[in-house]
Amino acid sequence: MNTIIPPTIDIHLSGSDLRGAMEQDVRSGLTAAPKRLPPVYFYDDRGSRLFDEITRLPEYYPTRSERSILDAHAKDIARRSDADTLVELGAGTCDKSRVLLDAMLSTGRLERFVPLDVSDTTLWEAATALSEEYPGLAVSAVVGDFHRHLDLLPTGGRRLFAFLGGTIGNLDPGQRRTFLIELGGVMAADDCLLLGTDLVKDRSRLVRAYDDRAGVTAEFNRNVLHVLNRELGANFDPERFGHVARWNEEDQRIEMWLRSAGDQHIRVADLDLELHFGSGEEMLTEISTKFSPDALAAELGECGFEVEWMWPSDGDEFLMTLARPVA
Ligand code: AVJ
Repeated sequence: MNTIIPPTIDIHLSGSDLRGAMEQDVRSGLTAAPKRLPPVYFYDDRGSRLFDEITRLPEYYPTRSERSILDAHAKDIARRSDADTLVELGAGTCDKSRVLLDAMLSTGRLERFVPLDVSDTTLWEAATALSEEYPGLAVSAVVGDFHRHLDLLPTGGRRLFAFLGGTIGNLDPGQRRTFLIELGGVMAADDCLLLGTDLVKDRSRLVRAYDDRAGVTAEFNRNVLHVLNRELGANFDPERFGHVARWNEEDQRIEMWLRSAGDQHIRVADLDLELHFGSGEEMLTEISTKFSPDALAAELGECGFEVEWMWPSDGDEFLMTLARPVA
């Protein structure tokens, strides 16, 4: 590995695809009962900055816990996967990828990095930086959505698919099933999946992680209203929506809601949609499912994966799982 290979970027998601998907998602979510919005729309530039701030909050343990597992076990992960290609789903700034890339480099098998993300600018910056940091590494970035573009990922070599951060917890059970079965369908027999999941724990600790004292998560939650105002010509007053983070025991998940501070009429101009929010009415903006290792292993099994190894963090806060598609 010594010469710098210029990165390639493959765009499977155009501005108009994103726009069409957003219009559909927002229309169906806002006309459902209860009203709901998909969490993907939190992450414009401001939302991504707020999320970054969340990851450094004292209450928000998942990022640090996951990082501690990677720091301690990345080499073991690299060795067990025996992969020459790292495919990262929802790569973002590729911060965590570096830990895995270093470990794969040290086991001597690293050849290619395939980050997938919906944001082309973040991806391009990260891809350029990484190809310079890792001379000889072929970086093939893919702009796409892990719900729809798994079949467009480059094949060949032995691939380690990483889906980190606990993001799979943002999907409901049906969406998780669809995603895992689709993923298994594009994986070769010797590819493997590295999955980061948050674990069930003391309820007050969970709630605090999503309702921090500094109010950053509240601002992150309300940011989706700023996004709808800007992108779809809506007229939400974000200050008239309160942040709610609540543990749903039955579904084992933290839910974030936005609660209307009074009776409000909202217009979403670009969708030609008129909405009414009653006083105290709540809109669901995110679910963040927490797992037990057994429940996760069972769910993976039902979707055609077998667990090769699990690494819990100290104190069992977060879990990293290596799994393989069953032949
Ligand atoms: C990294 C997307 C999984 O669900 O914990 C953080 C997002 N939401 N605080 C999570 C999030 C509120 C986060 N994910």
